[in-house]
Amino acid sequence: MSAQQNFQSQPSDIVICSAPKTGTTWLKSLTFAIVTRTNFDGSTNPLLANLSHDCVPFLEVDLAQSSTNRDPKNPLLATHVPYSSLPRSIIDSSCKIVYICRNPKDSFVSFYHFIARRLASKDMKPLALEEAFELYCQGVSNYGPYWDHVLGFWKPSLDRPDKILFLKYEEMIEDTVLYVEKLAGFIGYPFSSEEIKKGSVDKIVSMCSFENLSNLEVNKSGKHREGTPGVIENKIYFRKGKVGDWENYLTPEMAARLDSITLQKLNGSGLTL
Ligand code: A3P
Repeated sequence: MSAQQNFQSQPSDIVICSAPKTGTTWLKSLTFAIVTRTNFDGSTNPLLANLSHDCVPFLEVDLAQSSTNRDPKNPLLATHVPYSSLPRSIIDSSCKIVYICRNPKDSFVSFYHFIARRLASKDMKPLALEEAFELYCQGVSNYGPYWDHVLGFWKPSLDRPDKILFLKYEEMIEDTVLYVEKLAGFIGYPFSSEEIKKGSVDKIVSMCSFENLSNLEVNKSGKHREGTPGVIENKIYFRKGKVGDWENYLTPEMAARLDSITLQKLNGSGLTL
């Protein structure tokens, strides 16, 4: 509510939107690397010394009270807030929105591990996978039911394709180069043919790869929001980065139940997950 009332978007803003555990950390890294590619060389990019969440602020946490504590040189911000609750100025201004979604089975498994590790780090009672699954199916999730979150951005992305770029984690994993080029063009930082020939896109893709980022010292031992009650170990944002890992955790019955909810929820939308 505070962000809704106080945040004033600029036309040059690029807003990365996502439900939790759908690839936010990766998309933030890729977008930051695209936007800053002429300011740093391959060894000095801030992403090599900072978690991407420290390079791209979260609207509802870092900018909720005021938009004035932003770095004026950084047009990027991110949010997990559903489309229907975004500050009006983000919808009305000519800023760009990039949304990423992911298969709900993988997203749930990722979310469960994130929560489990957070609870363990606070010495709190563990949450059973089955209990977390039941809550997820009922739509009891941070930032609302997963399917509503995705559809909330999907529908306006069809009406305003120049405003909202709708991405899928699995497709980006499949052909990251293609999507990095697409993303760069969409946000107004297209790669020149000279840059493409010089391998700029490939360099960004490998700098932001799961293997590279998860092995950086800052992401192995650093902490995000240190000194606050919301402190999180950076390594929690990097687990496996794989498509289809749900098979190792969900029973066939659980998978069928999530698939059936997804089919029902997305019915008629033209979207598949
Ligand atoms: P898994 O738990 O399935 O491994 P978010 O950033 O929205 O919190 O999503 C976290 C998920 O993205 C985790 O998935 C994490 O491992 C994966 N991830 C983090 N960095 C990534 C990267 N550079 N490339 C691909 N996936 C990444």
